[in-house]
Amino acid sequence: MADIAVEKKKIVLSGIQPSGNQFTLGNYIGAIRNWANMQDEFDCIYMIANEHSITVRQEPAKLRENTYRALASLLAAGIDPQKSIVFIQSHVPAHAELAWILNCYTMFGELSRMTQFKDKSSKNADNINAGLFTYPVLMAADILIYQADLVPVGADQKQHVEIARDIANRFNGLYSNTFKLPEPYIPAIGAKIMSLAEPEKKMSKSDPNVNASILVMDKKEDILRKFKRAVTDSQGEVRRGPDKPGINNLITIYSVATGLTPEQVEAQFAGKGYGDFKAACGEAVAEMLRPFREQVEDLMKNKDYLDQVAREGAEKAARLAARTLSKVQKKVGFVPKL
Ligand code: TRP
Repeated sequence: MADIAVEKKKIVLSGIQPSGNQFTLGNYIGAIRNWANMQDEFDCIYMIANEHSITVRQEPAKLRENTYRALASLLAAGIDPQKSIVFIQSHVPAHAELAWILNCYTMFGELSRMTQFKDKSSKNADNINAGLFTYPVLMAADILIYQADLVPVGADQKQHVEIARDIANRFNGLYSNTFKLPEPYIPAIGAKIMSLAEPEKKMSKSDPNVNASILVMDKKEDILRKFKRAVTDSQGEVRRGPDKPGINNLITIYSVATGLTPEQVEAQFAGKGYGDFKAACGEAVAEMLRPFREQVEDLMKNKDYLDQVAREGAEKAARLAARTLSKVQKKVGFVPKL
């Protein structure tokens, strides 16, 4: 029989939490827009991680609304549910089932060392719940259940992908090869969009300073104002440099928004001041986000459509997830349900 070489695409899995406010420019450039760009080269699976969100208290009505908004945002950013699998984590219960099993192969000590756990438990001292502690195990289940090759994440989530590998390795060692070992995939551009107010810090949707973050649904006048107030330096030259975190960040943002290289941006603004550059940044970002925002608004008026996308995505995801879960259940000695 002829050997037909079918080239298999690598599997990409990522998730984004629907908690807190709407997405920031950082989430848009660094995460969801890159996710959309990966759709042709890879088999992509994208998830709204609502189960991770309840590790910190959420207002139920808001969580529900934000979950729809997150889904609408993925679609508006160009993720195509015909090409990729898009779903809501809680719609595929196999994740939580696998997470329970993996909990029994994850050590208290290794979870205690996770930077994000230490960080979040100091910030939520009145609610250091077990879910916050085992958060990385659920995330490992999200990844491993699809046999993902690549996990696009921000630098802050890299440690979580590493622990997923460690758990997979341990399980594979005990029960023979079961899980693919995933790799973090940190996008070259826009991986880190920094705060406009404190450019040494990552732009975050939970930042209490409203001028620090551009939110994807911001109106143009707000975007212009925030860029106008962006913290820069006293050198006055639109040029990247090691001691210019503010300007470096604005150059990254402007180059992503316009498609120019950083060198071209520097050339365009040679001899011009920060005022002109900040105004241009505001205009370019507002222009980039306008069609996105309009589409999110349209989609939010059509919850039936969003429900249908979520349902179809969950069906496809559940079929893939069931394969890994039943393999794992068999290996650990669970009696199959006949
Ligand atoms: N923990 C991730 C974050 O907060 C979200 C997430 C949940 C995720 N499950 C995932 C990311 C699986 C990548 C893969 O950003």
